[in-house]
Amino acid sequence: MQRIVLIGYMGAGKTTIGRVLARTLNLEFFDLDWYIEARYRMKIPQIFAERGESGFREMEQAMLHEVCEMEDVVIACGGGTPCFYDNMDYINMQSECFYLKADPEVLRTHLLMGKSQRPLIQGKSPEELITYIEESLKVREPFYLKAKHVIPIEVIHTTEQIKHYVDEIAKEIGRERS
Ligand code: S3P
Repeated sequence: MQRIVLIGYMGAGKTTIGRVLARTLNLEFFDLDWYIEARYRMKIPQIFAERGESGFREMEQAMLHEVCEMEDVVIACGGGTPCFYDNMDYINMQSECFYLKADPEVLRTHLLMGKSQRPLIQGKSPEELITYIEESLKVREPFYLKAKHVIPIEVIHTTEQIKHYVDEIAKEIGRERS
């Protein structure tokens, strides 16, 4: 049985890499944000607007427990998931966890390239964004660093790079790509 969980800051590449990792290892892919949206029939920004961040975190924890019961899966968490309640200890107990570790500049580049709506950074200028990332990463990284594996991530431009990261993860869990 395989259960791989990817964690890291917003824009680290959890969804992008997780999707390819799952396909490569023939596992099912779950993005925790998408799972929350599907189960509650609400978009993430709507949840933040109507229930606040604390309401979102409660829903997130409940859904984390649902997906972390499943077998033969790759799960991409939200950036904040490991940093609330005992979620990080729970993730470690339930899975092989990889922290996708990227510098603030890399994260900002990915976030500016991306199309996802993220309530926590909405409306920030590029300058405000880098300050926000640096400050919140300092608070979050101690949680992320509890992961068993750490994969350093650079700016992702090509599918070759995605494959490279997938190979690194697959190697660490002892399953080479065929
Ligand atoms: C959040 C990250 C988002 C999403 C929500 C809050 C965070 O997920 O869960 O907007 O606290 O960092 P991604 O990391 O997939 O953007």
